[in-house]
Amino acid sequence: MSRIPLPYNPKVLELFRNPKNLGKMDDATVSAVAGNPACGDMITFYLKINEEEVIERASFESYGCAANIATSSIVTEMIKGTSLEDAWKISWKRVTEAVGGLPSVKFHCGVLAVGALKRAIRKYYKNKGASPEWLEEELSFEEKQALEEEELAKMLSKRMKLEGEK
Ligand code: FES
Repeated sequence: MSRIPLPYNPKVLELFRNPKNLGKMDDATVSAVAGNPACGDMITFYLKINEEEVIERASFESYGCAANIATSSIVTEMIKGTSLEDAWKISWKRVTEAVGGLPSVKFHCGVLAVGALKRAIRKYYKNKGASPEWLEEELSFEEKQALEEEELAKMLSKRMKLEGEK
């Protein structure tokens, strides 16, 4: 079967080849995962947050595709030095625009990156036992999508296991 390469723009390819802030952060204030290791699309976000609730540093680890690595990389740059409230407002659409656009089949990769970021922010407040008024209780679009994708991946891997046992 021949595979047609996806039409990634040069910015995505550059970020994929030279991602910024890639790697685990040992002194992170909080980290969060989105995606599923079973299907390989998994991303972890690490945030170093100061007392003023400003993100001092951000890094990521990704087992996703080029689009996931590029969007995660740009998210870590977009949120550096911003308040948690402003980081929360970042949408997957803004991130997709920031990398110069993505093929539509790759939109979910950016959604997953922002989903991991929003999970990390939510977890930070949960750990603190606080809840600022801008943090809606209802899951954001990106968090919901990440959850959906994880459930789908779980279902598929279960089915594959069952098929394998036949
Ligand atoms: S992260 Fe799933 S295809 Fe990109």
